[in-house]
This record gives sequence, C-alpha cells and structure tokens, in this order.
Amino acid sequence: MEQFIVRLPKAELHLHIEGTLEPEMAFELAAKHGVALPYASVDAMRRAYQFSNLQAFLDIYYAGADLLRDEADFHALTAAYLRKAREQGVVHVEIFFDPQTHTQRGVPLGSVVGGIRRALLQAERDHGVSHRLILCFLRHLSAADAMRTLEQALAFREAISAVGLDSSEAAHPPGKFTAVFERARREGLLAVAHAGEEGPAQYIRDALDLLQVRRIDHGVRCEEDPELVLRLARERVPLTVCPLSNIKLRVFDRIEAHNLKRLLDLGLCVTVNSDDPAYFGGYLLENYLAVQRGLDLSQADLVLLARNSIEASFLPPAEQRRWLSAIDQAARAP
Ligand code: ADE
Ligand code: ZN
Repeated sequence: MEQFIVRLPKAELHLHIEGTLEPEMAFELAAKHGVALPYASVDAMRRAYQFSNLQAFLDIYYAGADLLRDEADFHALTAAYLRKAREQGVVHVEIFFDPQTHTQRGVPLGSVVGGIRRALLQAERDHGVSHRLILCFLRHLSAADAMRTLEQALAFREAISAVGLDSSEAAHPPGKFTAVFERARREGLLAVAHAGEEGPAQYIRDALDLLQVRRIDHGVRCEEDPELVLRLARERVPLTVCPLSNIKLRVFDRIEAHNLKRLLDLGLCVTVNSDDPAYFGGYLLENYLAVQRGLDLSQADLVLLARNSIEASFLPPAEQRRWLSAIDQAARAP
C-alpha cells in the first residue's frame, strides 16, 4: 500500500512551511544564531510535542519560527521540505507562509519570500515539482496589521498566488478580515482560509460568503451543519484535511474516529495534507497511510484523494488533466 501511495502523483495544498522545522534543523539554526533552546536534545524536543489543543501547539510553533532569521534559513527549510515531498510522490505544492511572524521580529519580508521562492524555483527546475505560494494572515492580530502586511507583500506580487488565514481560530471569525480579503482579490490574488478546525461550522460559511475563498483549510466541523455539508458537496468546495494534525491537536480522539471517509462518501472534494509535519509526526505519505489504515480506505479511495488534490489545486486545467491521467495510469500499473 505504501508503494501504491508513493507512486500516485499527489498535490499538497495545506502545508505551513514554518511547520516543517525539524528539531535537527532547529538545533543547527540555534547554534548558528547563538540561541539557547529550552531542550537538552533533539529527542527531548520531539518528546515535548504533545499538545492539548491548537493554542498549545501554536505557542511552540511560534517559538520555533523565531529561529528562522535570514534568507539562507528560509531557503534551507523549504529545500528540506521539498526533498521529502518529492520522495513521497508529491508533484505540486501550494505552501503557506506567515509573514507577520517574521516581520514582527524585524526579519525583512524580502528574506522570507526570497529564501522560500529560491528553493521552490530550484525544485521546479531540477525535479519538475510545481508550486504556488500562499501568504497567510495571522487571525489573532488586527485587520489593520493584515492590511499593512498585504500592502508590503505587493512588492513581491509575482511570487504570491493567494492569501490565507491561520493561527488561533476561536474568537477570530473570518468576518474580521473581509476588507483585507476584498483588497487581495482586487489585486488578483486567490483566497483560502482555515475554518472549522476548532471554530464552528458558521466560520466555514463566513469564509465562503464574506472572504469568497476557493478552498476551506480543515473544515472538518462542517458536519455540525448538514445544510452546509450539502452545499460543500454541491459546489465542490475543496477541504484541505490534515488527519495527523487533527489527532495531535485533539480535534478527533483517534484516527478511527476521523470523519474524512464519511465526507468523502458524501461527495465532498476532500484532500489529505500534512499541515505542520515536523510537529505532528508525519509528512504527506504518513497522513495517507494513517487514514488508509485507520479508516480502512480502499485503493479507489486513495486514487480519489489524489485526484481531488489535483482538482482542488490552483494549477490551470491543462496541467490538471495531465496529472489526472498520470494518476489513473499509476493506479492501473501492476
Ligand atoms: N498555523 C500553523 N498550523 C496551523 C493550524 N493547524 N491551524 C491554524 N493555524 C496554524
Ligand atoms: Zn494549517
């Protein structure tokens, strides 16, 4: 089954590049920048990754991101992720970055975008892995701060395809960012948003109606609103589901209790993604394997998930068709 999944061409659509910082690289960067980490070893750091909820994770995630300080750091981080993704059969990535986490600390936006983009372009040139870059606003900060960040980012407009919304969901409804997303759309940027991870189903409706997003990141709490589930299926709104993340952050108790298979069977465009793989115990392959085993998915289900990942991507139709036939071919191979 593992080989079958690796061979399927797949897109990853929900990946925070800051969430790919492995403890080994964290120690290297700490040494480079003369920072003392509050962990005795790489193993101790990894063992500390036990989270009771989203906020408990975010506190550790932002502390880790503080180690990323110059263009070379962002390049090394992104190159390491792309190496791993390629080994697992990922052919297209749409990755998030959180500019405010870095600009707040005085890291120039050009170093962040420059380092990430240099690695993305190298992966495209050397290995044919295509990409889109998505700028996420931190929803726990103000709309004014997001608007300033958007204006700053317009200097790098050609590198950025879409805007997103992440960080602490509870008490930060999508509607807080309506004007920012409107501005982004006027600039020709596409939109996505985290909604229905810890927040209510209403936030999914708000992300669709107020922010006019093309995809919902997570969205698993849609099930609390049966009318919304019907709408998501009817409109083929993709959900970028992150199974191992949902277990680590206690959105579901166990993988066997995850609703991915139910949503897939209801005709939703469900995709599998890794979110913050360095913190949640696995990259894309491990997420596919977890749901395959935990929910007893068939090969046909896995093919559908891979097809959905391409259909939900921002690739143009001709490229999507090319990957969809490659998936069908891989699925038929002995
Ligand atoms: N930032 C990084 N990972 C996140 C997640 N799963 N939810 C919200 N914000 C995030
Ligand atoms: Zn996320």
